[in-house]
Amino acid sequence: MGTFKLTVATGRDVQAGTLDSICISLIGRKGESPKKKLSHVWVPGKVSYFDVKTDVDLGELVALRLYKQTHVFAIPNAWYGEYIHITSPSGRIYQFPVYQWISGKASLLVHEGTGSILSMNDIISEHRTEQLEKERDAYKWKVYAPGVPYCIDAADITDLPYNEQFSGVKRGSFLVNLGVAGLEVVLKGLITCTDSWKNLDDIATIFCFNRTDVSDEVAQIWREDSFFGYQYLNGNNPMIIRKCLQLPENFPVSDSMVAASLGTSTDLHKELENGNIFLADYKILEGIPVNDSINGKKQYMTAPMCLLWKDPQDQLRPIAIQLGQTPGDQTPIFLPSDSEWDWMLAKMWVRNAEFQVHQTVYHLLHTHLFAEVFNIATHRQLPRNHPVFKIVIPHLRYTLDINTLARKELIGPGGVFDQIMAVGKQGIAVLLKKGMEEVTYSGLCLPDDITARGLDSIPNFFYRDDGKMIWEAMESFVSSVVQHYYKSDESVRSDPELQAWVAEIYEKGFLSNQSSGIPSSLEDVSSLVKYLTMVIFRCSAQHAAVNSGQFDFYAWMPNGPSSMKSPPPTSKGVTTLQTILDTLPDVNTTTIGLLIVWQLSKEPKDRRRLGKYRDVHFTEAAPQNYIEEFQDKLAVVSKKVIERNQTPVFPNLPYLYLDPNVIENSVSI
Ligand code: FE2
Repeated sequence: MGTFKLTVATGRDVQAGTLDSICISLIGRKGESPKKKLSHVWVPGKVSYFDVKTDVDLGELVALRLYKQTHVFAIPNAWYGEYIHITSPSGRIYQFPVYQWISGKASLLVHEGTGSILSMNDIISEHRTEQLEKERDAYKWKVYAPGVPYCIDAADITDLPYNEQFSGVKRGSFLVNLGVAGLEVVLKGLITCTDSWKNLDDIATIFCFNRTDVSDEVAQIWREDSFFGYQYLNGNNPMIIRKCLQLPENFPVSDSMVAASLGTSTDLHKELENGNIFLADYKILEGIPVNDSINGKKQYMTAPMCLLWKDPQDQLRPIAIQLGQTPGDQTPIFLPSDSEWDWMLAKMWVRNAEFQVHQTVYHLLHTHLFAEVFNIATHRQLPRNHPVFKIVIPHLRYTLDINTLARKELIGPGGVFDQIMAVGKQGIAVLLKKGMEEVTYSGLCLPDDITARGLDSIPNFFYRDDGKMIWEAMESFVSSVVQHYYKSDESVRSDPELQAWVAEIYEKGFLSNQSSGIPSSLEDVSSLVKYLTMVIFRCSAQHAAVNSGQFDFYAWMPNGPSSMKSPPPTSKGVTTLQTILDTLPDVNTTTIGLLIVWQLSKEPKDRRRLGKYRDVHFTEAAPQNYIEEFQDKLAVVSKKVIERNQTPVFPNLPYLYLDPNVIENSVSI
């Protein structure tokens, strides 16, 4: 009873306002107030004040209901509410984080902001159920392909919940970036030219203006073996290399083959024992269907193996390459001592395999598709005032939009992958399925993954060094927040919403694959901390590591050919420059590939940097302090990364991708 004083904030984006009416009812533990109209003029960025009088004794406020009513003659548009603060007649202040759009004629239940895990038989749980039922209607699962994570049931971005769609600013800059870059190559006639390249240097002329310092440097040093090796640690895909203590049986590299490459140490077995030998094995590509036609030409792919040696100067150098998994006369082991063209082409085949595995398994599956599952399960299983919802929600922004776009334009039938990639058409789904069979929980957790691959001590591994610092900062932040809400292991075990969330991710994301080691439930506080760190890291830093350098490393196409249009060499001494030009992608295939990696590396506007949380979901002081501590730690990491980059391994080749200042909070591109 009495007068409640309301402060209502409309979103700051230009499209956040509306001329539609917004009404409200307040929900307390003892009752609900009648619906009251607040206003029909909502200006972006404006904070408005209202009084709501009620004769009903509401008791302690727990939620409110917002209603948006459309007008017959007004242009219907959505309203974005940021927050509502309410002062009760007794002077108590309640905070309601909204941070959602309401579009059309609709209503929205908003919980009071205090984060809470479910307490059974509480009135709050009724409202949690009401909110979740609505979310489950909006966020439905769909089978994407057999053996692949489920995805959102939306054929087009317009089918997505309004809250998941790009803002006007983001959509606009996304299209402008693509349009400007596309115009140049259209005018040059490159996009329609189905010829082979006439010489390698012409490849550098695709774009006049779209270039980076790193892409220019790569075009200069791409032939160097030490750069080829460097990319396994600090390129687009630092995920495949592992220490080799024993040669695989199907890769019969002998002492005599590599003696000349091992400098003063001519003993391969001694170098294996010393931990200086590493292996990149693309076995996963064996048996994958290959794109049968690009520009009407059959395409080829191999499942190569590459042996690398860490030399006394701490440089990683390839010392043997086999272009297939079955040794024999038809699959010679190529060596640095072979002819220049033989060795160059062998390395190109490895880089071609790298392109397929990087884009399909480590970029698409391990970041985009898993992040999508985290998003859908979060909306379906966690009410918005659940602390885990509040931790993860900033890291799920725009993922459904970019993935829906990707399914339609990139990886779907007739999409860009079909036009440029060796695994296009039937190959992608098969490779994703094989990738899923190999997913492990340790592989998704950076510190465990580095140890499992034997890479704890290899020098100049900046993905590991920067990634570990970020992982630790995240883990510390998550741990503080989790311990604020979960006072015991039992409270983790007995939180039905949390357990349903983990179980749904296990079922829909990891297809209940027990051997993966992915948890299907969480038993204690430390398991929850690790799990949440994995989720946040994957959506932010891991995606940045495999996404942001795409143009830098692939702009010089011979360093990452997306497909090959001649079969791999079956003997030595026959490769010429012409063989290489006849094998590399055609002019238009190269150009389309470059256009895409330019677009995907060049983040559009409307970005949120790692740890910057503009939306205040946590309304209590303690978690807000933990967020500030997290930001301070990330600032220290950023300083260290910038200092380290003053002395890069190769001049003009700093490792840029895991500086927290440039990492996006979520998978949004
Ligand atoms: Fe991406």
